Amino acid sequence: MAKARRIWNYLHPTERAMLQTPAQPCALPDLGSRENQRLIDDMFLTMRRANGVGLAAPQVGVALRLAVVLRLDAPDQDPYVLVNPVLDELSAQDEDDEEGCLSIPGVYGIVPRHIRLRLRAFDRRGQPFTAMADHLLARVIQHEVDHLNGRLFIDRATSFTRGESLLPS
Ligand code: NI
Repeated sequence: MAKARRIWNYLHPTERAMLQTPAQPCALPDLGSRENQRLIDDMFLTMRRANGVGLAAPQVGVALRLAVVLRLDAPDQDPYVLVNPVLDELSAQDEDDEEGCLSIPGVYGIVPRHIRLRLRAFDRRGQPFTAMADHLLARVIQHEVDHLNGRLFIDRATSFTRGESLLPS
């Protein structure tokens, strides 16, 4: 049975350091372990309970290059599991939109992101896959890959729309 995990919070000084630390690559031969499969199921549930569209392992205190992303392009499909994701073929053109983050509750800002990209990653069985994404899905993928590199949307925001005063100075 999956269980929802606690989402680490940027406003917590000790948790902030973890959220800002680049995560380690997943060892593909270990991906099938009960512990790792359980982590993925728990991340699905944690994301769903929090009404999120994506969640990265460092947000639940696990420093691995692993994230889950809702299939905004195909809502009847299981969420993407991104293991060791790499982004390429990034569009030269950016677009601005509002973002928030489950680890920075109450704070929203405008973030420029590539409109289109190609995703290359491994799925939960360690099989490589490729996908093209654009607009909101591409934005969520970029946000989650940033988490794996210790970067948060507030580092890229050009302005804040809500909650800026909540951020530590
Ligand atoms: Ni986030």
